[in-house]
Amino acid sequence: MIVNFHNIELESTEDAFRPTLISEECALNAEFKNKKVLDMGCGIGPLAIYFAKNGAAEVDACDIYDKHLELTRLNAKRNNVSINVIESDLFQNVTNKYDLICCDVSGVSKNIAEVTGWFPTEVPKADDTGSNLIVRVVEGSPEHLKEGGCLNICTTSFSNIEEIESTMQNSFPDKWEKILEKEVPFSKRLIANIDLLKDEMYLEKNGNYFWIFSMYKLSK
Ligand SMILES: C[S@@+](CC[C@H](N)C(=O)[O-])C[C@H]1O[C@@H](n2cnc3c(N)ncnc32)[C@H](O)[C@@H]1O
Repeated sequence: MIVNFHNIELESTEDAFRPTLISEECALNAEFKNKKVLDMGCGIGPLAIYFAKNGAAEVDACDIYDKHLELTRLNAKRNNVSINVIESDLFQNVTNKYDLICCDVSGVSKNIAEVTGWFPTEVPKADDTGSNLIVRVVEGSPEHLKEGGCLNICTTSFSNIEEIESTMQNSFPDKWEKILEKEVPFSKRLIANIDLLKDEMYLEKNGNYFWIFSMYKLSK
C-alpha cells in the first residue's frame, strides 16, 4: 500500500509502522536545513526522506527492524534521495556525529501500544514503562552530537515522564526544554481500554479524554 507524507509517497505494508501526528510534528519542528541529521527509529522513512528532500546536508536513518530498513531503502530510492540506512539497536552501530538527531523511537508503554493498535505486532516497542528507549537515546546522544548540535525527542503521557526528565537533566544539565505539548483526543480503542491507564496518563475535560504528546529539545 502507498501512504502519503508531505507529498512524499511511501510504500508500506501491514506489518510496518505508518507515519502519525508525531511524525508530522517532528517534521514541522526540526531545524534541519544544511544540517547533518540522524533520524533515530526511522520506520518506513518519512522523516529521513522529508529532511533529505527539503534541504538537509546529509541524512542517516537507523532502525532495529529489518522490514523498516528495507522499506526506508526502497522509499528513498522511490523518492530519488540519498540516505545512509543503518541497522542498529539505538546508537549501537552509529559512529557519526550530527547537528540534529530527530528521535521518535516510542514513548508509549507496551500494553498501550498493543491495545491501541498504533503498533503492528511485529514492530519493536518500548517496555512497560514506556521510557526505556527514550532514556537510552538521551544518555547516548551527547557523544553523537557535534558542539552546538541538538536532539529533538518525542514522548507521550504513556511513559514515565519523571524518569525521562531526570535523565535529560543528568545528560544535558540545564540545556533541555519542552518545545511542544499537545492534547490528543482518545481513539475509540483507547476509551474501551481506559481501565488499563493510570490517572497521570490522561486528562478528562467535560467527559472527553485526552493523552498528551510532548517534544523536547536538548542542546549540546
Ligand atoms: C513510533 S515508530 C516511529 C517511526 C517513524 N519515525 C515515523 O515517524 O513513522 C518507532 C520506530 O522505532 C523503531 N525502534 C524501536 N526500538 C528500536 C531500537 N531499539 N533501536 C532502533 N529503532 C527502534 C521501530 O522499529 C519504529 O520504526
